[in-house]
Amino acid sequence: MTRLAGKTALITGAARGIGRAFAEAYLREGARVVIADIDMARAEACARELGEAAFAVEMDVTRQESIEAGVARSAEALGGIDILVNNAALFTASPIAEITRADYDRVFGVNVAGCLFTMQAVARHMIDRGKGGRIINMASQAGRRGEPLVAVYCASKAAVISLTQSAGLNLIQHGINVNAIAPGVVDGEHWDGVDAFFAKYEGKKPGQKKAEVGAAVPYGRMGRAEDLTGMAVFLASPEADYIVAQCYNVDGGQWMS
Ligand SMILES: NC(=O)c1ccc[n+]([C@@H]2O[C@H](COP(=O)([O-])OP(=O)(O)OC[C@H]3O[C@@H](n4cnc5c(N)ncnc54)[C@H](O)[C@@H]3O)[C@@H](O)[C@H]2O)c1
Repeated sequence: MTRLAGKTALITGAARGIGRAFAEAYLREGARVVIADIDMARAEACARELGEAAFAVEMDVTRQESIEAGVARSAEALGGIDILVNNAALFTASPIAEITRADYDRVFGVNVAGCLFTMQAVARHMIDRGKGGRIINMASQAGRRGEPLVAVYCASKAAVISLTQSAGLNLIQHGINVNAIAPGVVDGEHWDGVDAFFAKYEGKKPGQKKAEVGAAVPYGRMGRAEDLTGMAVFLASPEADYIVAQCYNVDGGQWMS
């Protein structure tokens, strides 16, 4: 398949999970891909495993100088960036009464400021280059409504949806389409962490919350990273040229909007 032949993509947080699955899908479609992550050892191992069209670049999306250096290194390795996937994120959970400012700053630093300033740095590169581009932000069903124990993460993902709308409307004049994907519950290391939070706050056994949320998905099971790759390829492809500032649910029927 060659729907992204000749294209280049920078994916943040791609050393594992959904970002890595997107990297694999983009490579299968003929793109060259930068695996950008704060975890450089894992990003390098991932790039080695994915082959010569994958490059590891260290990037901490909470630090402006790291974003700028990472975008510059990615543009150099790829010969210009056509596609950005803003995928890096952190999860946290606690009752409102126990939220700390430090936890809020940590999560908003990655999920919101990281998304915005990586988007800005890549948009500047795309505008200078004059070839347009695609930006895909990873939102979540958590951004569609609040949850009793998940205020900070839910708010951060609602902000990602809002940033996608504003950036989408602002950047389309440069031929840059900005859209978002809202997954539901996707199994993997991220959800192992989510499960541990619920074990702590709801007294569940390890694995119990995962089993419960999986059974509650209308499709009948939790998502897998591969369930999202079709939308990620589509939004990066020429068929999505007229799609601007949207957020698509890919969640087995969890949320309707
Ligand atoms: N897994 C789910 O159920 C689910 C559901 C809805 C939305 N999402 C969203 O999808 C995206 C990917 O989720 P995932 O399950 O693969 O997550 P994950 O936790 O498995 O992977 C996140 C990656 O981001 C990297 N990262 C963390 N902080 C970073 C930083 N400061 N700079 C650069 N990289 C950093 C991590 O090292 C890791 O490789 C996230 O935006 C997440 O919020 C996931």
